[in-house]
Amino acid sequence: MFTKATGPIGVFDSGYGGLTIFDKIRKTMPDYDYIYLGDNARAPYGPRSFEVVYRFTRQAVMKLFNEGCHLVILACNTASAKALRTIQQKDLPLWDPERRVLGVIRPTVEMMDQISHSKHIGILGTPGTISSNSYTIEIGKMFPHIKVTGLACPMWVPLVEYNEFDSPGADYFVKKYLDQILAADSAIDTIVLGCTHYPLLIKKIKTYLPEGITLFSQGEHVAESLVDYLKRHPEIDDRLTRRGQCRFLTTESAEKFSSAASIFLNQPIKVEEVAID
Ligand code: DGL
Repeated sequence: MFTKATGPIGVFDSGYGGLTIFDKIRKTMPDYDYIYLGDNARAPYGPRSFEVVYRFTRQAVMKLFNEGCHLVILACNTASAKALRTIQQKDLPLWDPERRVLGVIRPTVEMMDQISHSKHIGILGTPGTISSNSYTIEIGKMFPHIKVTGLACPMWVPLVEYNEFDSPGADYFVKKYLDQILAADSAIDTIVLGCTHYPLLIKKIKTYLPEGITLFSQGEHVAESLVDYLKRHPEIDDRLTRRGQCRFLTTESAEKFSSAASIFLNQPIKVEEVAID
């Protein structure tokens, strides 16, 4: 079905947010080749149903496999929460059982016990990620002694997408959600930014975060976990090309993507427009 024997690492997100994860992966593993795909035409995924997020994510993974990727990272919490398992269990065995799709939730969950002292954790994410209960379920399996409180922050992605993350208007919604989650469980000592857009709000979040609470941002941990995964799976690593090259694909306008992406990556990039449905 998919013909190329070797290829780049695919990184997928509904839009720009996954660039915060991609940036850390590329800095940690600069020799590898990458294709970043943003489904900007259909973002945000956050408010969409399971069925729709699965269908869109499946199309994106297929596109990246067709481009030669043998390993795809879903650098999107919503897609990881709503589509990853079905793709791994239902689609991969039919498409090509040798290819791999990994998400961002597991590498985050693995760190929770070592980061939190109070064993009370807050997860901030999109409505889709929070309503899926994925973090609560996965943390519960691995660390049943940890209490998890999730809160949807529907205004944070638009603040980032519309470049308002540094504006005075952002303060209201940053404070509102932080106050809400800490009121729900005052023993929380670790807050997970469970959405790839949220690292852009870190400056504001830190302004309103009470002392003694750790803010957990996923990028570095996803990158470290990928390095570890490739050490444990040399058969996958052998199929990844290494010329230090990177392509950026979007389902929306290339021009729009490259100007917005420069905010996330701090550098100009060349972007290709693609259709994936
Ligand atoms: N990138 C998505 C995530 O990490 C958020 C953006 C969206 O709603 O599409 O959940």
